[in-house]
Amino acid sequence: MANFPIRMELLAAHVVDDDRRALWDRNSQWWTNEYIPRADSDYQDVILPILKDVLQGQEKVIDIGGGEGRVSRYLIEENDCEAVCVDFSVSQLCAAHAKGQGPSFVQANVGSLPFRDGAFDGAVACLVLEHVLELTEALDEANRVLRAEGKFVLVLNHPVIQTPDSGFIHDHVADPPTKYWRISEYLIETSYFEEVEKGIFLPYEHRSLSKYINSLVDAGFTIQRLYEPSHSDSFIAKNPEFSSIRSIPRLLIIICTS
Ligand SMILES: C[S@@+](CC[C@H](N)C(=O)[O-])C[C@H]1O[C@@H](n2cnc3c(N)ncnc32)[C@H](O)[C@@H]1O
Repeated sequence: MANFPIRMELLAAHVVDDDRRALWDRNSQWWTNEYIPRADSDYQDVILPILKDVLQGQEKVIDIGGGEGRVSRYLIEENDCEAVCVDFSVSQLCAAHAKGQGPSFVQANVGSLPFRDGAFDGAVACLVLEHVLELTEALDEANRVLRAEGKFVLVLNHPVIQTPDSGFIHDHVADPPTKYWRISEYLIETSYFEEVEKGIFLPYEHRSLSKYINSLVDAGFTIQRLYEPSHSDSFIAKNPEFSSIRSIPRLLIIICTS
């Protein structure tokens, strides 16, 4: 039987920014106190080391959709840089502020960043743009606020594994019974809300890999490298049910220069 996430078949594209922001405000405690601690192995083992390496030596870094500041705090500590954490959710920024450790905070929409051209040496958008309607505006703005040849790291839930209606299929007909990950309608762009846990709905914009790559190029970025990491060893140790899908990428990480 399929173990699909539940989706709300709302016309998600018509839910305006204020509603989306309110949703993130409402989910902030869950994100900070439940999701981040649970996903920490993905951050510690996979995401953060790549960010540290790529953004080494970049003095001013913008953390676009920085949420409760996990990435900003890490970059300040490891790379000794200045970090500005930008998010439209006041609750997320308050959670980040409560943790201290140095980032500056700015409330703004990723599609309209209140900074001058070329203000930053580096930028990161970690697990953000798959939740954002305004992809073109967000990438144009990321490119605009970066200096020439500044580094941009885009981290996404891999659009293949995150395709709507994908999920574990338990095949009891096979001998022995097996389990695999169904990839659903990958090529169809979809705007939807997913109930990731009981009562926690997140907005998702499903787009293909080519959509992201071509949008980055259109915004003026030069793509340098792509990573498609699977779940980390420590995530699998804690969540052994995912060991059967280690050959499917968990994340998509795109390294670019402006
Ligand atoms: C999944 S969380 C990721 C947070 C952080 N980057 C991290 O990796 O811990 C997505 C964040 O993006 C923010 N966000 C979503 N849409 C946004 C928008 N249009 N403008 C600004 N922030 C947005 C949400 O408020 C939320 O804090």
